[in-house]
Amino acid sequence: MNENPYPPSPNVLKVLRTTNEEALRLYPDARCDELRAALAKQYGVDKDQTFCGNGSSEIISLIFTVFVESHSRIAIPDPFFSLYHSIASIHQVECVRVPTRDDFSVDVDLLLESGAHVIVLVNPNAPTGRLLPLSEVERLVNHFPGLVIVDEAYIDFAESGLSAIPLIERYKNLVVVRTFSKVYSLCGARVGYCFSNKTLITALEKGKSLYNVNVVSQKLALAALQDQEYMKNTTAAVQRTRDEFCTDLYRLGFDVIPSQTNFILCSPPPQIGDNGAQELYEKLMERNIYVRYFKDTRLFDKLRISNGTKEEMEILYNELHRLLGK
Ligand SMILES: Cc1ncc(COP(=O)(O)O)c(C=O)c1O
Repeated sequence: MNENPYPPSPNVLKVLRTTNEEALRLYPDARCDELRAALAKQYGVDKDQTFCGNGSSEIISLIFTVFVESHSRIAIPDPFFSLYHSIASIHQVECVRVPTRDDFSVDVDLLLESGAHVIVLVNPNAPTGRLLPLSEVERLVNHFPGLVIVDEAYIDFAESGLSAIPLIERYKNLVVVRTFSKVYSLCGARVGYCFSNKTLITALEKGKSLYNVNVVSQKLALAALQDQEYMKNTTAAVQRTRDEFCTDLYRLGFDVIPSQTNFILCSPPPQIGDNGAQELYEKLMERNIYVRYFKDTRLFDKLRISNGTKEEMEILYNELHRLLGK
């Protein structure tokens, strides 16, 4: 599930341990004021340009509810994160799959020609792990007349991950969505956030359910945000393990798509046959090692592997080594 293998910051765990009964007895701050102020400070924007939700999944769904008309069309680079397809179907919105290039890089011109009302860009993309440079993101936002949703769930794992957040000052049609789930190791707390201009943020505020982020999760997210050093150290550890594991995969004969995330999309060596990826996935599962296999036309010969700790990746490497008879 592309979760972080490391625990949240010790500050977060301290807040969790010292949270008292009030946190359960009293209603949350419906506007998440303290957390939003901290996010605004961290990212150099106004508090009015920030919004918090029950995970970024809730925010994405809310963006559809508030801004995307049913029977309209969204365009999204293919392959894509399946949540968008599910949310689009719930809202009766057509999902136009815009193919990425052979190397899975996003083709901005094709997105612009898609004729869609809204464009979704997951950057870096899931499940490919590829990053679109900021200049290309800006070209997209600049030339597209409709709303552009840039989902940066994984951007802090990218080496050169320049965020689109500063673009919200210049463009009125941009929402940048982020989450505490990945780099802050808080999937279970369910806190997401987004940045946009004040008008769109006000519209989201009006459309949201009143107490969408609970008291404890607001406190935990704030503590996580305030420990940037821990986040940077654990992220660097994830990047190191990822890069070492990519080298291991090459050694085993895999083809690897360069990843800018905490997961790796790779093709097993061709000599193991057409169903090789699926067979490996099933055999690993028998050993309680869970990787992802997608039946999609461009992904059926690939595995998507979430980055674990160094020790976990060693177990996986040894298992792959054994299964491939190396
Ligand atoms: C690209 C992307 N966006 C959004 C999400 C949703 O994350 P959350 O709802 O935990 O914030 C995920 C989760 O895996 C993701 O991969």
